[in-house]
Amino acid sequence: ADTVRLAVIPGDGIGQEVTAEALKVLSAVLEGSGTTVATTEYDLGARLYHRTGETLPDSVLEEVRGHDAILLGAVGDPSVPSGVLERGLLLKLRFALDHYVNLRPSTLFPGVPTPLADPGEIDFVVVREGTEGPYVGNGGALRVGTPHEIATEVSVNTAFGVERVVRDAFARAAARPRKKLTLVHKHNVLVHAGHLWRRTVEAVGAEFGDVTVDYLHVDAATIFLVTDPARFDVIVTDNLFGDILTDLAAAVTGGIGLAASGNVNPDRTAPSMFEPVHGSAPDIAGQQLADPTAAVLSVALLLEHLGHAAAARRVEAAVSADLARRAAGQVGPRPTAGIGDALAAAVV
Ligand code: NAD
Ligand code: IPM
Ligand code: MN
Repeated sequence: ADTVRLAVIPGDGIGQEVTAEALKVLSAVLEGSGTTVATTEYDLGARLYHRTGETLPDSVLEEVRGHDAILLGAVGDPSVPSGVLERGLLLKLRFALDHYVNLRPSTLFPGVPTPLADPGEIDFVVVREGTEGPYVGNGGALRVGTPHEIATEVSVNTAFGVERVVRDAFARAAARPRKKLTLVHKHNVLVHAGHLWRRTVEAVGAEFGDVTVDYLHVDAATIFLVTDPARFDVIVTDNLFGDILTDLAAAVTGGIGLAASGNVNPDRTAPSMFEPVHGSAPDIAGQQLADPTAAVLSVALLLEHLGHAAAARRVEAAVSADLARRAAGQVGPRPTAGIGDALAAAVV
């Protein structure tokens, strides 16, 4: 029997609530499979910060590194200055563990309400670069608080970093039935980074002759995500554009409560990290109002990554059936734990 060593970081706000449900579903789906999960829970986030001033001590980072995968809830709290936990914990993990593929699938499950009148079949995946772009923290501020303040945030794009994520996106596109890759950028304005991305897609694309390549400026991409989302198969884009597009993608596929993600290290030099796309939702935290489905679908991505594809499919099927029951009015509003219990019962 094999053991999955899982680091669990519930984090802040609803991160705590949805992670508890995700873990329920994980242990239920693996019950009797011969695979066991050994979890190590890390109490990181606002509480640790207020207690010690730390966000991710180096010793904890090294311990986390020794696991097979990480499950994260959400990070960020109104009692902590904005950016402290987001940068000091979440982004530190993504950078330190080289999560250069931020995988964000969008599927419109049958019956799920969408704000779109005519959504068509939505089933695409955003491959968001995870270690570069404006997220690196290159920049600074001068004359802060004066009328002459200057603030810069420099987007870093390296040939190495762009190539490896573009290559991963092409490989994913090649493995999908429609074999289509859309680069989203803004090379009409961001000419330095934009042309590096464009040239890289062209060069790597030459090795993937059966993949159709398309390009959209990010502003136009937001139009098509709303008017014709069925046109997308694999989208590859930079860290910031990918962040924004995937909240929009979530909104058109049933809401942020359903959107899962994986911060993947494809070279497996460090554990990958799975988390819902949403944040800590302070407006609803502690009230059992959060939908844990995004966290549960993140567990499916985790299982898939660890080679448990059949278990991953069972989790997705349970979610799909649960969403269909909601659509049919067979279940009313349930607390976070009620949804988790139902999904855990459905995967065994
Ligand atoms: P958010 O995703 O936390 O919330 C946006 C809206 O969506 C809120 O109205 C919230 O109630 C709702 N929502 C989110 N998840 C939901 C769920 N599972 N079920 C039902 N409704 C849900 O985004 P925000 O308000 O911009 O950010 C709040 C905090 O979370 C900030 O500190 C931010 O930095 C942080 N954040 C963290 C992550 C992460 O850890 N990956 C992601 C996004 C935001
Ligand atoms: C996300 C979040 C994070 C991001 C923040 C909290 C750093 O919005 O995971 O989408 O921008 O990547
Ligand atoms: Mn985001």
